[in-house]
Amino acid sequence: MTRGLAIVGHGKMGRLIEQLAPEYGFDIRLMLNSSTNAHGAGLSGENLRGVDAAVEFSTPSAVLQNIRRLAALGIPVVAGTTGWFQQLPCARAAVQSGGGALVWSPNFSVGVYRFRQIIAQAASAFAAEHEYEAWGWEIHHAAKRDAPSGTLLAVAQEMKQAGFERAINLSANRAGAHPGTHEIGFDSSADTITIRHTARSREGFARGALRAARWILGKSGVFEFREIVNELG
Ligand SMILES: NC(=O)c1ccc[n+]([C@@H]2O[C@H](COP(=O)([O-])OP(=O)(O)OC[C@H]3O[C@@H](n4cnc5c(N)ncnc54)[C@H](OP(=O)(O)O)[C@@H]3O)[C@@H](O)[C@H]2O)c1
Repeated sequence: MTRGLAIVGHGKMGRLIEQLAPEYGFDIRLMLNSSTNAHGAGLSGENLRGVDAAVEFSTPSAVLQNIRRLAALGIPVVAGTTGWFQQLPCARAAVQSGGGALVWSPNFSVGVYRFRQIIAQAASAFAAEHEYEAWGWEIHHAAKRDAPSGTLLAVAQEMKQAGFERAINLSANRAGAHPGTHEIGFDSSADTITIRHTARSREGFARGALRAARWILGKSGVFEFREIVNELG
């Protein structure tokens, strides 16, 4: 059975999601960009007729309003936009008060999720090895606005939660068209250990978001992608 999908943000990610959506059983019913959705005006009940879920990859200044409008209209949302997570409590309140559903993440790549699991294990192991210092580094294309990436910040926090309490030196580069590399390293006078994830394209993010969009149908609540990744079909 085909389901209706709205693509909110028809940029690099939105266009890829449009291309891959049929593989996941979705038919695109609505696509919005900055001019067709100024101040959320494109998210009307009429425009959303036949839409079962929305995938939101827009900009930090627009995402909260988009989630609020979609939640008010009962449309479950997969939100991939980054750089706005300090406002997550407002999104959570809007979604929960309407009994809606939201899956959010700074990174919808299943490969990155597994990378994060490995980093947490490494951080726990190196916590007891006091001669090792740690760093985190990432590079993305020049148009990515937030730096360091939400993913690198999350990884550093997970390392602390895993018991690595020493400082983690973080840095970021923005250049060219790079789809994204994240690296964590542990360094001592004797040796260096590096663990690196390199995205080959945006495809992994788009496929993860579409799997989340299939999962969210019929659900209610607010979930981070990593909480549901083991349940994805
Ligand atoms: N979570 C993940 O896995 C993941 C992966 C990749 C990227 N991202 C994030 O996703 C976001 C989008 O990335 P991108 O590379 O696709 O960016 P992009 O190519 O710049 O596309 C952004 C799109 O959002 C549209 N937009 C702006 N305001 C809007 C509004 N009010 N309503 C609807 N659409 C609006 C823009 O419209 P115009 O075309 O009219 O300007 C554009 O089409 C960024 O925050 C990025 O960091 C997340």
